Amino acid sequence: MLTKCRDPQVIAHRGMSSLAPENTLAAFRLCAEHGVTRFELDVDLLADGTVIVLHDSTLDRTTNRTGAYHELSRADLGRIDAGSWFSPEFAGEPVPTLDQVVDLMNENGLDANVELKVRRVPAAQQRALVTAVARDLDRLDPDRDVLISSFSPLLLHEFRRVVPGARIGILFENKRMNGLWHSVGLMLDAAALHPSDSTVTRKSVRRFREAGYEVNVYTVNSRERAEQLAEWGVTGVFTDRAQDFPEDWRA
Ligand code: G3P
Ligand code: CA
Repeated sequence: MLTKCRDPQVIAHRGMSSLAPENTLAAFRLCAEHGVTRFELDVDLLADGTVIVLHDSTLDRTTNRTGAYHELSRADLGRIDAGSWFSPEFAGEPVPTLDQVVDLMNENGLDANVELKVRRVPAAQQRALVTAVARDLDRLDPDRDVLISSFSPLLLHEFRRVVPGARIGILFENKRMNGLWHSVGLMLDAAALHPSDSTVTRKSVRRFREAGYEVNVYTVNSRERAEQLAEWGVTGVFTDRAQDFPEDWRA
């Protein structure tokens, strides 16, 4: 019976996001420097089919520009500074594209969790994100590992259709998934469940693990809490502070 996970792992949430601007190449590069094997990133689509790495649906919080970005194209990215808001040291740090991240992963031997951002747009537009992400990830070296996650079962279902061998993680933020995780997990042939730290319980972790899923909890910045979750049997935690964790958590 699966309850205790002996080697839980940190997943650097948006990269080393307390040391560098989140979701940038600088934040992902720091993972390699700190011996952190896996990072998380958020992806969305520009008008020309370029997949970019950004958490929010606008540029307001994490760049020197404002407004939505979905109508922009790759050429526009050069005019956007995604580093200065964090620190002058990172001035000019670009909003990365997924294909740049793929190169960085190949060069540094890093693994990732790619989160497909949810947009309230027609299904065809949502599918376009899946197709573009699958295209970019196809350039990964065969020994790299990627977990695809989303709050949208529709996007995950589409990803499973496009990439039959994909490893899927289902994100859920509240108890809404309490009655659904089992059937949605089976439907998607998911590898992992990603519950929020605010809702996860010892009992739910036990159920998820007994059903055979990896359990990665977001977002856990306290070592003490991470140790408790490990004791409950989780396989990983998303954290903004991967540098605080011992080596065996980072590998
Ligand atoms: O994947 C875990 C976590 O990143 C989900 O929430 O809002 O940080 O993307 P959010
Ligand atoms: Ca995310």
